[in-house]
Amino acid sequence: MSTIPDIIIAVDGYSSTGKSTFAKLIAKEFSFLYLDSGAMYRGVTLAGIEAGLIAEGKIDEEKLVGILDGLDLHFRQEEGTTLLYLGERCIEREIRGWDVSQYVSPVSAIPLVRNYVDERLHSFSEGGRVIMDGRDIGTTVFPNAEVKIFMTADPNVRAQRRYDELVAKGETTTLEEVLENLRDRDYRDSHREVSPLRQADDAFVMDNTHMTLHEEVVWMLGLLQGRFGLLETPGLSC
Ligand code: DC
Repeated sequence: MSTIPDIIIAVDGYSSTGKSTFAKLIAKEFSFLYLDSGAMYRGVTLAGIEAGLIAEGKIDEEKLVGILDGLDLHFRQEEGTTLLYLGERCIEREIRGWDVSQYVSPVSAIPLVRNYVDERLHSFSEGGRVIMDGRDIGTTVFPNAEVKIFMTADPNVRAQRRYDELVAKGETTTLEEVLENLRDRDYRDSHREVSPLRQADDAFVMDNTHMTLHEEVVWMLGLLQGRFGLLETPGLSC
């Protein structure tokens, strides 16, 4: 029923604002390919940890950059969603763990890691009709994206959401620890030299502190209708 053209939708914003959940839902609703750019940075981090190049607060940047060429990180479409694979192994679960979360921000600040990820993202987006979430999609990866969303929410609400997710997965942590990690990532992501997190000038801001997922989708629908004026509204087609 959607008549949205084959555009690129960029969804950027702070950690744990629900970008992936939102983007996945929009992808499903309007038949877009969903790509999670943060998953790629997490995949590189996981590979570094498994290769023994990241441990005890230290990252061997030179060696990490050295393994990128042989790193087969790719997305696969399965069961109506997009999953990240390292070679033949699905790593969706491992990349969301606490270990990876602790190191992913400094790893994503390494310029050659960013080049590697950007290249992979472009290659997976070749057919168009993509919704991608991250930190620099609307500013660097796809500066010409037709629709740009910038998501934000109160840090305490974000920390609680993330904490609940981690606990549900059986991870042992505290709300304070999660809030600290989140603030640290916000700071690092928006202050790094290469491609820092910032709102694109032409982005629409969504503060979802008090929004339900349903309200987010309705918000997006309104935006797309306003922007393209093309959607058929069920029951109102005449
Ligand atoms: O969205 P996420 O929490 O899974 O992202 C993990 C990390 O990757 C985050 O700390 C910032 C980084 N990232 C980035 O620098 N640029 C992107 N486009 C996406 C994520």
